[in-house]
Amino acid sequence: MKTHIITYGCQMNEYDTHLVRSELASIGAQFVDSIPEADFVLINTCAVRGKPVEKVRSLLGELRKEKEKRGLMVGMMGCLAQLEEGQQMARKFGVDVLLGPGALTEIGKALEAKSRFWDLSFREELTHHLPPAPQGQLSAFVSIIRGCNHHCTYCIVPTTRGPEVSRHPDLILRELEQLKAAGVLEVTLLGQNVNSYGNDQPGFPKFGQLLRMVGQVGIPRIKFTTSHPVNFTDEVIAAIAETPQVCRYIHLPVQSGSNRVLRRMGREYRREWYLDRIRAIKEAIPDMVLSTDIIVGFPGESEEDFEQTLSLYDEVQYDSAYMFIYSPRPGTPSYKHFQDLPREVKVERLQRLIERQKEWSYKKNQQWVGRTVEVLVRGSAKDEGYAEGHDRGNHPVLIPAAQAPVPGLYQVEVKQATPHMLFGEVVGAQEAATIPLVMA
Ligand code: 5AD
Ligand code: SF4
Repeated sequence: MKTHIITYGCQMNEYDTHLVRSELASIGAQFVDSIPEADFVLINTCAVRGKPVEKVRSLLGELRKEKEKRGLMVGMMGCLAQLEEGQQMARKFGVDVLLGPGALTEIGKALEAKSRFWDLSFREELTHHLPPAPQGQLSAFVSIIRGCNHHCTYCIVPTTRGPEVSRHPDLILRELEQLKAAGVLEVTLLGQNVNSYGNDQPGFPKFGQLLRMVGQVGIPRIKFTTSHPVNFTDEVIAAIAETPQVCRYIHLPVQSGSNRVLRRMGREYRREWYLDRIRAIKEAIPDMVLSTDIIVGFPGESEEDFEQTLSLYDEVQYDSAYMFIYSPRPGTPSYKHFQDLPREVKVERLQRLIERQKEWSYKKNQQWVGRTVEVLVRGSAKDEGYAEGHDRGNHPVLIPAAQAPVPGLYQVEVKQATPHMLFGEVVGAQEAATIPLVMA
């Protein structure tokens, strides 16, 4: 079976694609890079905002033509597959295989089935699954917890991915050992809310303890995403500070700077709590690089509320931010109860926020000029003559390609900075990749 997988959405989806791909490889699937070459096209879907949903709808339309022409088999997995909205699409476009985010381990059975195979259950096997290490990669993801127990009123994820289930720490450590043996230099621990790790299973370590255990494995760089401010305890901060392998980068979604909006979003904290967490982080690790998620134009957000977001932005001084326009998602409480704001208002606020973020990113990036940072070089950059990578603060860094001929870790002196990028020169190679990698 010649299979082509198309992945939308977050890093969790990328990890799930890897998981399904390795299951398919174990039953002899071959992988191809385009739809015309494939006998089976599998779409890993995202439902968090309207845009990725619409992309899947139009892709399914195209694939239906191929189905009719040459009997192409079509599969849909991930968050949209779990929702009525996705299932309606699947019925309309004749999707053969439909797997919710909890049923991915069923992919083998789905392909053996002679007729349509839909599974939307949450299977325990997934939590006990150990995917093989990807080959030829310097960075990898490891899922530590699935699902989310929060109930943010705008968010569809608790519906699609269900409640929190932590993976056994022994399994996580075994997966990390495999990755280390495969030459991986950077691992990102994944979960909808990694800080809740262990809270659902008596006897499991808490997230801070897990970070210390993961540090012991000896992979040089550990990152984690994503975090909820409510669960970002002092113990987590201490574990980060005391585990040198943990990168100096935290992504801490705030969503809004206004207490009125935070309450309507169901975020379970106030602005003051969030700012106290930021204070504690900066006190423990002064060089910490910070990013966030912000939703602009949540229903009922006034100009004054939005200005509170801008002022919080100035107080925290984020290095970067992912900024989203509120997207009403059917099935969420905010969709049901609140009136969406006019699009012009949302777009205008987003533009103002992007401007503010650019100013801070520029100022913050300038502070790195003249300093030496460790860069994990991935390969050639789009900009000709440069190699690209990122430092321990997750800044993208460009280096003259001739100075970093193979992927790996390099010591780099930062020479220049823009709002989006650092430019540097190599002052020493710390650890070149031990696996044969070809520059892309
Ligand atoms: N509209 C816009 N952004 C959303 N996010 C989640 N749900 C929505 C929505 N309905 C954003 C949040 C979250 C990130 C992953 O996506 O900022 O942190
Ligand atoms: Fe969604 Fe909130 Fe859970 Fe994040 S914490 S996945 S935004 S419900």
